[in-house]
Amino acid sequence: MSNTYAEKNIATRAIHAGQEPDPTTGAVVPPIYMSSTFKQDGVGGLRGGYEYSRSTNPTRDAFDQQLAAVEGAKYSISFSSGLAAIDVLLRSFLKPGDSILLGNDVYGGTYRLLSKVFGPWRIGLDVLDVTDTAAVEKQLQTKHYAVVWLETPSNPLLRITDIQAVAQASHQQGTKVVVDNTFASPALQHPLEDGADVVIYSTTKYIGGHSDVVGGAVLLDDDELHEQVAFLQNAAGAVPSPFDSWLAIRGLKTLELRVKRHSANALALAKHLEQRPEIERVWYPGLESHPGHEIAARQMHGGFGGVVSVQLAGGMDAAKRFVASTQIFTLAESLGGVESLIEHPAAMTHASVSGTALQVPDNLVRLSVGVEGEQDLIADIDQALDNLSN
Ligand SMILES: Cc1ncc(COP(=O)(O)O)c(C=O)c1O
Repeated sequence: MSNTYAEKNIATRAIHAGQEPDPTTGAVVPPIYMSSTFKQDGVGGLRGGYEYSRSTNPTRDAFDQQLAAVEGAKYSISFSSGLAAIDVLLRSFLKPGDSILLGNDVYGGTYRLLSKVFGPWRIGLDVLDVTDTAAVEKQLQTKHYAVVWLETPSNPLLRITDIQAVAQASHQQGTKVVVDNTFASPALQHPLEDGADVVIYSTTKYIGGHSDVVGGAVLLDDDELHEQVAFLQNAAGAVPSPFDSWLAIRGLKTLELRVKRHSANALALAKHLEQRPEIERVWYPGLESHPGHEIAARQMHGGFGGVVSVQLAGGMDAAKRFVASTQIFTLAESLGGVESLIEHPAAMTHASVSGTALQVPDNLVRLSVGVEGEQDLIADIDQALDNLSN
């Protein structure tokens, strides 16, 4: 990995790291290496180490170098989805009999993977409110966990966990800490600096940034764990295509610009929503009313992200009518793209946690606030809320 840009500003790293102009033609944007295999100069005579694109591909490498530089991590390994990244990371170091301590507010698909797929392979799973640092310390003293897994801000309730405090308590017990940093993105938060062992992303969200590619990444500094993850990725095969990697590269270049605007729009909308009588509660870490605001203000740098969740005073029925009434916000799963999205987690992204300790309120609506004009977004939400009383 090139360290040329290590000391530079995050936007400079995002635009230049791993993106040297093509040495043959001078193309300023490196080409997409749409090739599954590479010619050898005699058996084993690899050019630049490339042999077969499940193992390594130049476009994927360019993305890995770029994302590692943006994160300030030694290594980035990209995957074909966020869940593929989570799956391979955990299988690279867990063994039957190990246990995971999971935050009680995470993406439904993460919980489904850990409970329904890992469970039958004898990986234990306990769920805890990891925003309560004292409870985490206590739990870690009563039982050994191979890993604490958390999201901050979490999906969909935007809960905030003190990464430094959890990392300190975990390391005392020989437990690794993984932070799913998808909501904050590397533009706002650096869990490795705060003591986490591994960061994972669904690059489908803010890193890709345009809702046109599904991907994931594992970021870490540890040489041995990097070897294990890279080995399993090659052995099992969940790699992103060269074209997917190129889309992610293109998205990441403008991450910092976009996330600033997402955060500003989300804060303005969250403040506005607090004034509306149809809204029972607004969840946004940038609001002083948020229980994790002080930690978020210390731990996140330059904004609080683009996701806002609200609970409707009129219950589930009002929530369902609200998500169906917006015109600029599109009713769809996912988040982190330039366009605003709205969804009903209990029936959509978090349907798989129904009846578990992670169940989400059925009057909850999650908004992924895009980078459109702030006043247009506020007006759209206002007309949808006005509609509820008609
Ligand atoms: C916080 C978080 N982590 C992981 C994932 C899974 O990522 P993917 O959909 O790219 O597999 C998601 C998807 O919504 C997510 O929101």
